[in-house]
Amino acid sequence: MAKAPRFAVFSLVAAFALLRWSAPSFAGARGPKVSFQSALQQKLKVFGRQNSCTARAAVGIFYATQTGNTETVASKLAEATGLEASDYDGEDFSDLDGVIAGCPTWNTGADEYRSGTTWDDYLDTIKEYDLKGKVVAVFGCGDSQSYADNFCDGLEELHNAFQAAGAKMVGYVDETGYSYGESKSVKDGKFLGLPLDEDNEDDQTDDRIAAWVEQLKGEGMPL
Ligand SMILES: Cc1cc2nc3c(=O)[nH]c(=O)nc-3n(C[C@H](O)[C@H](O)[C@H](O)COP(=O)(O)O)c2cc1C
Repeated sequence: MAKAPRFAVFSLVAAFALLRWSAPSFAGARGPKVSFQSALQQKLKVFGRQNSCTARAAVGIFYATQTGNTETVASKLAEATGLEASDYDGEDFSDLDGVIAGCPTWNTGADEYRSGTTWDDYLDTIKEYDLKGKVVAVFGCGDSQSYADNFCDGLEELHNAFQAAGAKMVGYVDETGYSYGESKSVKDGKFLGLPLDEDNEDDQTDDRIAAWVEQLKGEGMPL
């Protein structure tokens, strides 16, 4: 066989083998699942880390949403960090060095399962993971005017799940830049992550994200 066709055949076989190697395993409805694309991306990142001195650490952005606001801000975060944002579907984060996770708040005043999204199905599972050594930051979407006394309550619950798993939590934000009544997500004057209000203050979202990404870099998120 001539050199060029032989190389083409070799490339095809290698690509097929990589795809087979990266194929996801199928778990039960509530168990950890990995999409085919993200499984392939993670495998490639891990391969890169193992075979290059200069490879970047792997960080994933995950969001869940009802009406699209949290997806919109996750996309902006992705743009600001050069990462991709994924709709959370039970991933176990095992191949990642860092996680940026976002939720809205829909279940007003609830003690548990406040986001009203897929996160609620997995919070108890996430608490059981071993995420020691991983850096995690959370963000949330809420409405500081219509739901002033429960502003971004879901943020604390998501934060606490990752914290219970042993992750190093970063990205706390001073409350002084926000106008609201009460929030379960504020401790000692700081939100436990980045609150965003697409309903009333979407004109501030870009600046808030830009500042937060710089803060995360300074606090050890491997971006
Ligand atoms: C029925 C309902 C309940 C809500 N409860 C809260 C709440 O308790 N706290 C809050 O900050 N925002 C609350 N919101 C506002 C949403 O969290 C906000 O619009 C958010 O951006 C929605 O995000 P999503 O589009 O990603 O689902 C509520 C909105 C609705 C319609």
